Amino acid sequence: MTKETLTVTDNRTGQTYELPIEHDTINAMDLRQIRVDPGDFGMMAYDPGFKNTASTKSTITFIDGGKGILRYRGYPIEQLAEKSNFIEVAYLTLFGELPTQKQYDDWAYEIRHHTFVHENIKQLMEAFRYDAHPMSMFISTVAALSTYYPEARDIESADARMKQIVRLIAKVPTIAAFSYRHSRGLPYVYPNNDLGYTENLLYMLDKMGQTDYAVNPTLARALDVLFMLHVDHEQNCGTATMRVIGSSHSDPYSSMAGAAAALFGPLHGGANEAVLRMLVEIGDAKHVPEFMEGVKNRERLLMGFGHRVYKNYDPRARIIKKIADEVFEITGRNPLLDIALELERIALEDEFFVKRNLYPNVDFYSGIIYQAMGFPVAMFPVLFAIPRTVGWLAQWQELLADSTQKIARPRQIYLGEGTRDYVAMDARS
Ligand code: CMC
Repeated sequence: MTKETLTVTDNRTGQTYELPIEHDTINAMDLRQIRVDPGDFGMMAYDPGFKNTASTKSTITFIDGGKGILRYRGYPIEQLAEKSNFIEVAYLTLFGELPTQKQYDDWAYEIRHHTFVHENIKQLMEAFRYDAHPMSMFISTVAALSTYYPEARDIESADARMKQIVRLIAKVPTIAAFSYRHSRGLPYVYPNNDLGYTENLLYMLDKMGQTDYAVNPTLARALDVLFMLHVDHEQNCGTATMRVIGSSHSDPYSSMAGAAAALFGPLHGGANEAVLRMLVEIGDAKHVPEFMEGVKNRERLLMGFGHRVYKNYDPRARIIKKIADEVFEITGRNPLLDIALELERIALEDEFFVKRNLYPNVDFYSGIIYQAMGFPVAMFPVLFAIPRTVGWLAQWQELLADSTQKIARPRQIYLGEGTRDYVAMDARS
């Protein structure tokens, strides 16, 4: 009969240990018993970047990176992108089940009626430099929200938590739109609560003096699909940050500002911005082979390619590639698409990329659509952060409900100096 255990022999001592296996995983604390002398600290696992360390059990998002599968609460992303909408997916992600009609209507109403921000928030945003990066404004403003809702610190209260969740999901489009208007020197446009989530965002971004301004429904739907694709992606850098900060029982605004800051980096959600800058720099499909030589010579990265978890085509990239055509029918084709397609064609055939299982990720095509829709590149990470707010908050709720979770506090392997005595300044060489 097979046993759900792992037998480890420590060749330093010849001693054997039997470690329980659960869900194909050993508990890292079980390594601590492995020691040479009774006074030793005990063995640890070394894993920079947490490449093979599970920090939580979760029921939110499933990814099979080898097969290119992504599901929220068990529902394949392809089905959600085709049949659902962002507000419904937000409900599903947070509450675990698809809503009934009544639950959906109540939820949509709640989100729609918390879109305004305090006037002081607007004034605070107006104080940023004229050329402030919209994502930096977004991060700072989310953090500042905690000063308006001190009850958010009551993280033990389910009601207080839900109130902040609704506020955050409802207000992030307003903050995002204000940061965009600010960076363009345009007057801020208040939310229009007659409109749906992505319609309202487009309205706040775009409306000028027109009295008959109408949002293009195809573009609003395309953005809604893009938002569904970005809702959650299990324990990525931003989400792990949300959990790390949340584990010290910080309020959700402070935790989310940290998560958004992690997302901003070019190796994470800032990659869509980096992809666009890369495509502009390449300039023409005929320069692609030369650029690829530079990538293979390790002079640079092919942005929008590769993923910690996917070792296959990112299913989100496949869906985005499809909706690009619908968007281009309205906006006109983005000429950068030709460069992107050529990069992808070469990469999928080239041994360097094939051997390393490097495929396009979600950021490779999203920027091209965003640009065609008229968004400046600096807005791309913000457009990632809006829907990811839902995932961060769902993961935060799950963290707080999990009694096995502890404050996040990794170990280190100290390799520095041993004890030495302080040397006076005039005695130092
Ligand atoms: N271009 C060229 N080489 C690459 C790339 C790339 N984009 N990505 C990985 N590699 C190489 C890497 O040099 C390494 O080669 P070797 O084994 O010979 O040293 C190998 O592929 C494995 O890569 P890794 O760096 O060990 O993989 P990782 O899991 O630590 O990093 C990643 C994942 C996403 C940070 C990385 O692929 C990358 O920097 N990609 C470009 C940035 C990007 O598109 N980020 C968006 C990620 S998806 C959305 C999100 O997370 O927000």
